[in-house]
Amino acid sequence: MFPFTRLRRLRRHPQLRELIRETTLSPKDLILPLFVRHGKDQKIPIGSMPGHYQLSVNRLAEEIREVRNCGIPGVILFGIPEHKDADGSDARSDSGIVQQAIHEIKSIDDSLLVITDVCYCEFTDHGHCGILVEDHGHVDVDNDATLAILQEQAVSHARAGADMVAPSGMMDGVIEAMRTALDDSGFTQIPIMSYAAKYCSGFYGPFREAAESTPQVGNRATYQMDPANSNEAIREVELDVLEGADILMVKPALSYLDIIHRVKAKHPELPLAAYNVSGEFAMVKAAAANGWIDEQRVTLEILTSIRRAGADMILTYHAKDVAHWLE
Ligand code: PBG
Repeated sequence: MFPFTRLRRLRRHPQLRELIRETTLSPKDLILPLFVRHGKDQKIPIGSMPGHYQLSVNRLAEEIREVRNCGIPGVILFGIPEHKDADGSDARSDSGIVQQAIHEIKSIDDSLLVITDVCYCEFTDHGHCGILVEDHGHVDVDNDATLAILQEQAVSHARAGADMVAPSGMMDGVIEAMRTALDDSGFTQIPIMSYAAKYCSGFYGPFREAAESTPQVGNRATYQMDPANSNEAIREVELDVLEGADILMVKPALSYLDIIHRVKAKHPELPLAAYNVSGEFAMVKAAAANGWIDEQRVTLEILTSIRRAGADMILTYHAKDVAHWLE
């Protein structure tokens, strides 16, 4: 019979299977998103994201120690301020909720990498990612006015001690604007992780509950990408590369593995992150809670597929679970 090449020979011995394994997954590849809210002694469960909470600043210590013990290198912070207003003033205040959280985390463990999401949707009373304008009867985000307040927000995060900033609002020109503002304030050493190709996705549903950031009117389709487009993602990425992004990101991850693969192939020289978003997490948790899938097996398979597609690092709500499983 013809097949002299029997691939099954290589799969017989478990150690051999490990030796020929092409993709690895470790807690060291993962970044955990955290939601920090105003108030004191708050630990409010997020219904659609089992195991995740909105934590007040004084409840962060326990979480941060656990993250460190798990071997997870970093967290990305999202804030829920006490007051929201039209231009999201808490976001760029040195005493804002995220800034307080950065100070607190750094005082608990200054070796943990602290990344901040730089965007306005959690801070505006209308829930959009920047300042609104009327455009021929439609409300839309004013790109350039928003760039100015994003610069202030990023610099304020850096001043509070953030190690890296991650603009997530998909404003055109944001990387250059942020790089300039950081450099002018003396933060030349702070890298920018760009949400370079971020799609207008239904998978953000649970996050919007968690961050209380659902748009009150309209949607984000003028600034986030159409899920039908792939070449456009390459254009988005090219601009961010030219503007000086240090790390690129594709978001969401699972329905966009082709985009992850394309971006990595185009820019192998740049580190690539993928955001395994809230809806992707919630689907696994819900199916597992019903006994329909094996949570551990499916989660590891999903995260491995994201790494295999080309992501160097993954932002994921599964991070702590994975660390416990892989221990
Ligand atoms: C905000 C932001 C969003 C997410 C990360 N940063 C929400 C959005 O664009 O509506 C979503 C993350 C998730 O769903 O886990 N700019």
